[in-house]
Amino acid sequence: MSIHGEVLWFTGLSGSGKSTTARALVEPLRESGRKVELLDGDELRQTISQGLGFTREDRITNIKRIVFLCKLLSRNGVTVIVSAITPYEEMREHARAELPGYVEIFVDCPLEVCERRDVKGLYAKARNAEIKQFTGIGDPYEMPEQPDIVIRTQMDEVESNVALIMDYMTTKTGRSEAV
Ligand code: ADX
Repeated sequence: MSIHGEVLWFTGLSGSGKSTTARALVEPLRESGRKVELLDGDELRQTISQGLGFTREDRITNIKRIVFLCKLLSRNGVTVIVSAITPYEEMREHARAELPGYVEIFVDCPLEVCERRDVKGLYAKARNAEIKQFTGIGDPYEMPEQPDIVIRTQMDEVESNVALIMDYMTTKTGRSEAV
């Protein structure tokens, strides 16, 4: 019998705190005995999704590629953490259907707060119409309909969000240690 690794899928607006939380989760998961890979949207767009843009079609292609990678890793027992906007419910449904260990984590942070942070300066460019189809401005972010976990980065610290997710991993998945 094979045991699938969990796939912890972070979805949320650009600048919501997906990657920060995802990175902070790697060590605690490793310490629990899991093999862990982190797949970050920005990095994947420089590699396996290089050349793709941000039309609905390209975003769906991007997510399908990430799901495929997750499948390969998780069926070999690796716990995968994904950080990608994943703005459409259709994409999340696809990931959920394809990945037995799928755990959806909605990084809930108001658009105004993400825009105020504007870590990469992209919201300013989107407002100036230098970037079209920017998620939250010219392109939709559909609210997740059935997230397994919701974290609020505006209110809570990274450490407490990581603790919440680790708690979920031990209670809901019934695995305190990797097998
Ligand atoms: S997704 O929509 O296909 O899930 P993904 O997470 O891979 O998006 O990439 C989003 C990153 O690309 C953002 O964090 C941002 O740095 C950059 N980016 C560039 N243009 C856009 C855009 N139009 N909409 C959203 N993100 C963009």
